[in-house]
Amino acid sequence: MPVSPDRVVITSGTSEGIELALTALAEAGDEVLVPVPTYPLYTAVLAKIGAKAVFYRTNPDRGWQPDVDHVRALITPRTRALVVIDPNNPSGATYTPEVRTALVDLADRHSIPLLADEVYADLAFDGPVRALSADRPDAPVISFSSLSKAYLAPGWRAGWMAVGQDPRLDEVLAAVKKLADGRLCATGPMEYAIVAALTGDRSHQDSFRAALRERAEVTVQRLNAIEGITVVPPTAAFYVMPKVALPPGKTDADFVLALLRATGVLCVHGSGFNTRPEDGFFRIVFLADPAELATIYDDLAEFTREYLK
Ligand SMILES: Cc1ncc(COP(=O)(O)O)c(C=O)c1O
Repeated sequence: MPVSPDRVVITSGTSEGIELALTALAEAGDEVLVPVPTYPLYTAVLAKIGAKAVFYRTNPDRGWQPDVDHVRALITPRTRALVVIDPNNPSGATYTPEVRTALVDLADRHSIPLLADEVYADLAFDGPVRALSADRPDAPVISFSSLSKAYLAPGWRAGWMAVGQDPRLDEVLAAVKKLADGRLCATGPMEYAIVAALTGDRSHQDSFRAALRERAEVTVQRLNAIEGITVVPPTAAFYVMPKVALPPGKTDADFVLALLRATGVLCVHGSGFNTRPEDGFFRIVFLADPAELATIYDDLAEFTREYLK
């Protein structure tokens, strides 16, 4: 995205950038639009601030694309930000150009800062996803990313936020810098790592993307073969959000806990990402090697067969 260095803040991972931005933007009682399923950091930070997470739908029947009409309908005078996670955790979705444009248009028209969580941008199976603001420097977009995912260095806590050059973001930027000054300094040594990563050889990402695609294919094929489980194929990252047709009265947490006890395989229940417990969603991280995944999915298949009897 076109941005000058004075609008970039080095952060302790994407997480700190998100926290700085939400703290700068929202006060108690304010509203922030976040997707469901959501990434839990957003709801946690908003709870700390006392602001309200207002959830907009993303639709599994349309490849987990955000429902833009729903986003529009949820905007009120207290809306302070619109969170967009593309590519997405937990769904593994990448958003269509139409949806991306519509979301930026909404933010622009209503002057609502769009917080673009782009931490998986380099891990779309078909190649990197462009920054949401790349073609829209006129729109109020703040981009967040880090070395955690595409550079396999989550423990380094090396991240950044880039505040778009739209003058409507100038006060937000000033508030973020004021908050960031409270840290006394950034994670200085990590800046050298960031320069090396972003300007150096990135060829590892080609093989990483290919490895992720292979695991995604194994995952989708094996899960869709299990009676009672359906899954939307992911297009990025290392997550997938299958749905199990739960027996009446059972929740997603019942299912994942029973799976854990029976097999030792741990997934996160969908309601951990704010989907409804009775909907039966759960999230799988498919980073294990394909041979190990095959035995895990054998166990999952056998367990599910018994559970749904
Ligand atoms: C959507 C999303 N945003 C942010 C983060 C946090 O990343 P970082 O390690 O850069 O703080 C994660 C990590 O899982 C994530 O999935």
